[in-house]
Amino acid sequence: MRHDVRVDLGARSYDVHIGPGLLDQAGEILAPLLPRPRVAVVTDRNVADAHLETLRAGLGGIDMPALVLPPGEGTKSWAALQQVTEWLLDQRVERRDVVVALGGGVIGDLAGFAAAILRRGVRFVQIPTSLLAQVDSSVGGKTGINASTGKNLVGAFHQPTAVLADTGVLATLPPRDFLAGYGEVVKYGLLGDASFFAWLETHGPDLAAGDTDLRGEAVRRSVAMKAEIVARDETEQGDRALLNLGHTFCHALEAATGYSDRLLHGEGVAIGCTLAFELSARMGLCAQEEPSRVRAHLSEMGMKRRIADIPGDLPDADALIELMAQDKKVVDGQLRLILARGIGDAFVTSDVSPDLLRSVLSEALDGQF
Ligand code: GLY
Repeated sequence: MRHDVRVDLGARSYDVHIGPGLLDQAGEILAPLLPRPRVAVVTDRNVADAHLETLRAGLGGIDMPALVLPPGEGTKSWAALQQVTEWLLDQRVERRDVVVALGGGVIGDLAGFAAAILRRGVRFVQIPTSLLAQVDSSVGGKTGINASTGKNLVGAFHQPTAVLADTGVLATLPPRDFLAGYGEVVKYGLLGDASFFAWLETHGPDLAAGDTDLRGEAVRRSVAMKAEIVARDETEQGDRALLNLGHTFCHALEAATGYSDRLLHGEGVAIGCTLAFELSARMGLCAQEEPSRVRAHLSEMGMKRRIADIPGDLPDADALIELMAQDKKVVDGQLRLILARGIGDAFVTSDVSPDLLRSVLSEALDGQF
């Protein structure tokens, strides 16, 4: 079953098409958007091996040159940005043409940024192939690359012309990647929809086991929530920051683990959400049972839920706080965190006691929760 979710942004509005088999229907969906029957596809080696020929067949008579890049976070670099933009120019991509980003978050962010700056902005379509990209990074127009000082520090807001989230391709993901993406799905329930979190508690295990209808529904509800928040606050002057629940902790843990295989982004988000709830409970903002309920669900899903689940050594609490202070959300040197009054009720605050934060992190590093 196919769902379409509208991202309502005036002249820059677009649809997120969600459902199985959308790669096969890509030509039908994209043809009305194209001034001529041609797209330029940017992808990575793993995704190309799994899906490029399916997309080619789905595009039918639409011509499709493709640039295949190495997989991994290292590709979100200045060097890759130069390679993509120069390749797009070589392909004679014009203002009204469409660049297609076929892949996970790395490809979507990179190709989207290249589209944002090429000829001062060409159109692009996201075809996200990871769960994380389908529920989060492909929607909302954040594009960019990493700088030597941190992730996503160079970029632009550039909304896609359409998003095709083919939920059938999720079956090809390694289970660890699928569950990491599920960390972002859980985030939506935790930040703004208690009934969605309860739905995930009921259906999460079947969804992870491969039920395609449940997967489609989880993607639809996540995208609908993101679309609604982005429509309210496209450039993150306010509520959009709620989408960063768990992310300040996550970014510190990712930096501490060298952005390596020890911790995938979505795993860090899940752990970060448990820490945000633990801190919220310690501050008396939410009931003591809430962090345990979050951890219980992640545990049932077989996911990392505690700092102690990250293999290898980690720096101490002060060093983690230092890494948290490098977050983009810092304003005038003040840490801003997303905390919660309960499941489904997150808010942004700078009012965080450093001592309490330090003790939560120390206890977490000790494996106490
Ligand atoms: N991933 C957070 C946002 O799009 O705002």
